[in-house]
Amino acid sequence: MIKPKVVVTRRWPEAVEAALVEDFDVTFNQQDRALTSDELKDAVRSADAVLPTVTDRIDARVLDNGKPRTRILANYGVGYSHIDIDSAKSHGIAVTNTPDVLSECTADLTLTLMLMAARRASEGEREVRNGDWSGWRPTHLLGSKVSNKTLGIIGFGRIGQEVAKRAHHGFGMRVLVYNRSPIAADVLARTGAEPVASIDELLPQADFVSLHCPGGAANKHLINCRRLDLMKQSAFLINTARGEVVDERALVHALTFETIAGAGLDVFNGEPDILPELRGCENAVLLPHLGSATRETREAMGYRVVQNLKDFFEGRPPRDLVA
Ligand code: DGY
Repeated sequence: MIKPKVVVTRRWPEAVEAALVEDFDVTFNQQDRALTSDELKDAVRSADAVLPTVTDRIDARVLDNGKPRTRILANYGVGYSHIDIDSAKSHGIAVTNTPDVLSECTADLTLTLMLMAARRASEGEREVRNGDWSGWRPTHLLGSKVSNKTLGIIGFGRIGQEVAKRAHHGFGMRVLVYNRSPIAADVLARTGAEPVASIDELLPQADFVSLHCPGGAANKHLINCRRLDLMKQSAFLINTARGEVVDERALVHALTFETIAGAGLDVFNGEPDILPELRGCENAVLLPHLGSATRETREAMGYRVVQNLKDFFEGRPPRDLVA
């Protein structure tokens, strides 16, 4: 039987690449750099499936490109705001993602950012590495307590729920949640969360605000200047969702003038380029999009893509169909 032709846009963990070649005729991106728009066009023209990830902008220009051979975009990652879903649909191209398997690790990293920002861990590490630490003293790098504070979560899907569980059951936090659709009572009970009716109601009450909503046009600059002003001066903003959800210029202003206490960011607008002013904010913890970056999770994400592809090419509906 002829194996479907598949293009993988970045290198994957070795074990999953090996699993892919068993069932598919695979082209890997040996250099492991982000593909250009023209290279993505070629991939869509020449392969039965393209396996993109967050660094690939699959927009109408890439897809409106003669008759694409590609029948499925099997995304490696849960977020898919880098794929123009309407355009994919108009070409009859299916789109899948990789939910569930990364929720725990992304939640762990959210807690990492909360703790690092509140406890000034990056500032402390810079001090030690630079040889600037002059020794213990009672007033040195005083941060904010995390335990028993109030966490506000915006977007209560699987990752938001994992964050709530950790914060509530691990750190004794009060957890307020805002979600566009109603949250089932058993989910609230399991996570120890209390729903609020609006983002504007959540912000003034929270000591930490953590974003877990999808990116894309609908949520662009959901956190803007006005909403940053609603946050407590002692509060921290945490973003492990997508860069575009936050107006970064407004955030730089809030961090510089200390209208909020700090931020923990794992995602950025236009990453890997970061606003120079943001890099200059001592009260921001900045990580290079590490949410799902554990060996276990990155392998599980790859196996989930392989399963979606097998289902698709063997005539079954893929489990993680988003379009
Ligand atoms: C995800 O899975 O959405 C990660 O952010 C990587 O794209």
